[in-house]
Amino acid sequence: MSLMEELADLKCEALKQLRDADTPEALEEWRIRYLGSKGAVKAAMQRLKEVPPKDKPQAGKAANDLKTSLEAAYKDASDKLGAAPTRRRPPQTLDVSLPGRRPQIGHVHIITQTMNEICEIFARMGFAVVYGPEIEDERHNFDALNIPPAHPARDPLDNYYIDEATMLRSQTSTVQIRVMETQDPPVRIISPGRVYRPDTVDATHYFMFHQVEGLYVDEGVSMVDLKTCVDQFCKAYFGPQVATRFRPHFFPFTEPSAEVDVSCSLCDGTGCAMCTDGWVELAGAGMVDPNVLEAVGYDSEKYTGYAFGFGIDRMVCVRHGIPDIRLLFENDVRFLRQF
Ligand code: DAH
Repeated sequence: MSLMEELADLKCEALKQLRDADTPEALEEWRIRYLGSKGAVKAAMQRLKEVPPKDKPQAGKAANDLKTSLEAAYKDASDKLGAAPTRRRPPQTLDVSLPGRRPQIGHVHIITQTMNEICEIFARMGFAVVYGPEIEDERHNFDALNIPPAHPARDPLDNYYIDEATMLRSQTSTVQIRVMETQDPPVRIISPGRVYRPDTVDATHYFMFHQVEGLYVDEGVSMVDLKTCVDQFCKAYFGPQVATRFRPHFFPFTEPSAEVDVSCSLCDGTGCAMCTDGWVELAGAGMVDPNVLEAVGYDSEKYTGYAFGFGIDRMVCVRHGIPDIRLLFENDVRFLRQF
């Protein structure tokens, strides 16, 4: 058989096999067998060397014809199959000139951010930061804080009791006692953390919320010191434009006691949904009751002190214009991402 005849047979056989190659894998196998660098077409081309010179032009043409027709047939077949031939360049899917997509990384919750900021402000005023347990006993939550056994604040319906003597703390004032039990005056601490009360949940109440307690006990501490400290703190957190005011109140563990309001930074004192007539209640405060000092073994003749407790969630809502406390705890990232 002459080379010419062989080429004709090869073409016939190749086209027949191509018709049977009906999967991308079979097609690829076919391509390698016939059009690959060690394939049949290449081998035929190489054999042109053996052809006598007079037959060369004709044989060369036939070989070229074999090559182009198999290539064309292969292209048709692969187009029909929709298969991406591996030899072709992959489609350009990466445009390196496009601006990058920012990777999503988490961040600290707004409450934690605020607690950190509060700690920083008080640290500048010389307060140490301490933490107390969330599971407490009645001594620290009530007794030592001068809250008598029959006081309504102890009502089981207003507290999460775990058993007769143990409860989830309802206020961070517990930490005042824990610190004074273990440390002699002078004491100057703040203590941020969670507190728990079975309140009916609504826009301003939740069964868990956050407070920051403050306590300063030393010789000669006065109400002026308390007012200065609270005012300075509020100006540092909300901005120098805010005003503070003390309204007389009652707390068992302080005497005299006050509630602290700040001027509403959302409406500038004209009145809005967040405030009452331009004022927002933020804290309880007062001069530590001598009974509390005596309960921890401090000499109440020698030492005086002030204490305060701020509601952190309320502060966050006021500063950021958040109308509903529940948003803080639902953990909807669309909300949290804003802070
Ligand atoms: N513990 C009080 C509360 O949860 C807030 C409070 C009021 C704390 C007066 C104080 C204080 O330290 O002196 O309502």
